[in-house]
Amino acid sequence: MRITDTKSSWGAVTWVLHWVMFVAMVALFALGLWMTGLDYYSPWYTAAPDIHRSAGMLFLFALVFRLVWRVLNPKPSDAELSAMERVTSKVVHWGFYPLLFALLISGYLISTADGKPISVFGWFDVPATLTGAGQESTSGTIHMVLAWAAMGLVAVHALAAIKHHVWDKSHILTRMWSGPFSKSD
Ligand code: HEM
Ligand code: HEM
Repeated sequence: MRITDTKSSWGAVTWVLHWVMFVAMVALFALGLWMTGLDYYSPWYTAAPDIHRSAGMLFLFALVFRLVWRVLNPKPSDAELSAMERVTSKVVHWGFYPLLFALLISGYLISTADGKPISVFGWFDVPATLTGAGQESTSGTIHMVLAWAAMGLVAVHALAAIKHHVWDKSHILTRMWSGPFSKSD
């Protein structure tokens, strides 16, 4: 099994990160929407945001690692795409990183606005840094808008992948789906 990416396939690290983070992001989105509607008397009133914040911080560490890994590894060839598709796929792929970092940092800023650290599943604390007047509500609005924008970009990205697979009969989706087990190497 290949660990690193090559000129023709995605390795195990990118493959695991891509699909685990996809599931995590959809789960965090659904959890975020659900928990903000919870009643004070719900047994999940404090537990759900604790889980959301903790899992979100792990997502942030994973994203830093993913970005470093991406820069250090070759990118599988996209020669079969048209010039226009190559540009848009680059914009979408690289667009995810700043968008997700901004989403995660806004979440961190909501949660630490009162100066208290975030306890990640009780394992360790992430300290507060910035605190200011109105930080919680401003970051909350930004977080909500960025969460919807990120889901929008995921939808565009996933539809493009499905279009390449069904319409163009390209192996781009199969290559990411089978990752280190793809036969193309
Ligand atoms: C949270 C959701 C998702 C995010 C943030 C995301 C992000 C990315 C990024 C950044 C890349 C470029 C490689 C990298 O930097 O790791 C990529 C590649 C890819 N993604 Fe996603 N993705 C998501 C969900 C999906 C879904 C649902 C599908 C399929 C239906 C999909 C299909 C692909 C494919 C096929 C590639 C490889 C493109 C190529 O070989 O040029 N992704 N994705
Ligand atoms: C992929 C990562 C994340 C996604 C998709 C996500 C998504 C969401 C969504 C959809 C909401 C509901 C927004 C609303 O309707 O008001 C929300 C709320 C919230 N999120 Fe996240 N989130 C992520 C990461 C984080 C992180 C890393 C933190 C903190 C460390 C965080 C902290 C919060 C908090 C405190 C709220 C409640 C805000 C309020 O009460 O207005 N989130 N999140």
